[in-house]
Amino acid sequence: MDHRARPYRSVLYIPASKARALEKAQTLPVDAIIFDLEDAVAVEEKENARHLLAETLAEKDYGARAKIVRLNGFDTEWGLADLDVVAAAKPEAVLLPKVNSAADVEALAAKLDARPETAETTIWTMMETPLGMLNAAEIAAAPRMAGFVMGTNDLAKELDSRFRADRLPMQTGLGLCLLAARAYGLVAVDGVYNAFKDEAGLKAECDQGRDMGFDGKTLIHPAQIAVANSAFAPSEAELDLANRQIIAFEEAEASGQGVAVVDGKIVENLHVATARQLLAKAEAIQAIAAE
Ligand code: COA
Ligand code: MG
Repeated sequence: MDHRARPYRSVLYIPASKARALEKAQTLPVDAIIFDLEDAVAVEEKENARHLLAETLAEKDYGARAKIVRLNGFDTEWGLADLDVVAAAKPEAVLLPKVNSAADVEALAAKLDARPETAETTIWTMMETPLGMLNAAEIAAAPRMAGFVMGTNDLAKELDSRFRADRLPMQTGLGLCLLAARAYGLVAVDGVYNAFKDEAGLKAECDQGRDMGFDGKTLIHPAQIAVANSAFAPSEAELDLANRQIIAFEEAEASGQGVAVVDGKIVENLHVATARQLLAKAEAIQAIAAE
């Protein structure tokens, strides 16, 4: 399965305890939603949130938006009960927090295998611990894996690093996870930008994530959606260049040459493959918007 065939530009967290936000998300222009039972839900709210989420997923229509449920870990008292709720609701994916190794994923996969309702459910993992970074490749290769979500707040806490606008302290972890995701064909979604009223800061971080190769950004507030959708979509200029590269390369090939030149830069077949990928991404975004 090509997990990256659909767009994941904007992936919005919604605390499963917040009825108003759950309601509102039905009309927000996001590519995916993470219904959160873990860190955004207070301990006293865990039970209520789980029930509210079950009811919500059964009744509400989220259209083309991919539905991902973030469970509590199985080392907590809530994890298993969360999974029971999720199984009945049949989301596209469950997201497991604080994953350290392939064994963590295998344990969840065995639980999904045991339930007929979750035959099709994929697994996404939060990449947010030092061990998770170091074991990213084996985690990516584990059964049912379809996506990584960078947990940059937890990672910063574990590293004892400080916030920097250029995210220098995060680069090793982000890079290791991207390499692993690409090696095994997973979706890779970047971490959240905490200052949700700082649009310029968010844009800079989205642009950096896109430059690195991430598919999209996790978001905490509706005000962040437009910036992420735009930053992770191919721009008009990129699409125009892609079209011109394809035409130029086809012309070069027709005249017996293996290389073309566009805007003073060489175009080889690998660039044409990238250009076609970009056009396919734009089409996938249009298709989701039309639904
Ligand atoms: N998803 C969907 N809707 C959301 C939302 C979200 N994550 N965050 C806010 N909204 C809605 C509110 O319900 C409100 O809707 P309304 O105007 O129709 O009533 C509207 O957006 C404006 O919200 P606002 O008042 O600006 O935000 P807030 O002060 O209520 O909440 C946060 C701010 C950060 C607490 C809230 O956005 C939030 O809980 N975000 C998610 C945090 C999270 O999931 N963290 C875990 C992963 S890091
Ligand atoms: Mg976390």
